[in-house]
Amino acid sequence: MHELIERVKQGGLPRHIALIMDGNGRWAKARGLPRTAGHQAGAQAAERLIRFAGRELGLEYLTLYAFSTENWSRPKEEVDFLMDLLDRFIAEKLREFVEEGVRLTVLGDLSPLPPRLRKTVEDAVTATADNSKLYLNVALNYGSRQEILRACRTLAAAAASGRLDPDAIGEEALAGSLYTADIPDPDLIIRTSGEKRLSNFLLWQAAYAELYFTPILWPDFTPEELLRAIETYQRRKRRFGRVEEEG
Ligand code: FPP
Repeated sequence: MHELIERVKQGGLPRHIALIMDGNGRWAKARGLPRTAGHQAGAQAAERLIRFAGRELGLEYLTLYAFSTENWSRPKEEVDFLMDLLDRFIAEKLREFVEEGVRLTVLGDLSPLPPRLRKTVEDAVTATADNSKLYLNVALNYGSRQEILRACRTLAAAAASGRLDPDAIGEEALAGSLYTADIPDPDLIIRTSGEKRLSNFLLWQAAYAELYFTPILWPDFTPEELLRAIETYQRRKRRFGRVEEEG
């Protein structure tokens, strides 16, 4: 494992990896367990991966899609369980985050979240604000279309009040009004469980991202699987729409 890590590091790490953690429910079903057991196991997989990304790999930015704006339509018990799980996860991990230089930020609209979770998240964001080893972004009540609309409204309001010239609105202005304003675009987006969709995740930011899909269900996603995804990313030629350079 150590050699593999070194090899992957030397191959050039992506700066920012974003993960769509899918397949918790199917993982549980395959074991005759309730869906909530799948989320519990999913949280452990997330914990393992955050630790690996920070300590062993030295990754700069890791983004996890924890709860989408569409996830509210799941059964109430499941939504409540996920809210509670996220609350406990962040509260329990906070000390480790502080000690290990993890900076937590949240992408999404926190206002409809249970007040307790909201407070846990806000406290953790504040407590880790000076850290800079690993930027951990948790997408929570996040939807990319909603994020883009919110940015448009911000820019439209500035234009309507005369503070902003509509002709001056470029990509930078829009990108700077997204939740990810201070975060570089993801280089690699990974989705587990065999689905090949972005599902309203980082649509603007994904413009040049490499996409990696694996049939592995999220609770089974290990650091080795992450290294495999990075190796695939390294083998692909990234040209950003240009032709390949000669010579
Ligand atoms: C998708 O599996 C997963 C979710 C909707 C929730 C993601 C949450 C976690 C992995 C746990 C906690 C996260 C953190 C950051 C601690 P699914 O339920 O859609 O699975 P299925 O498609 O097999 O039903």
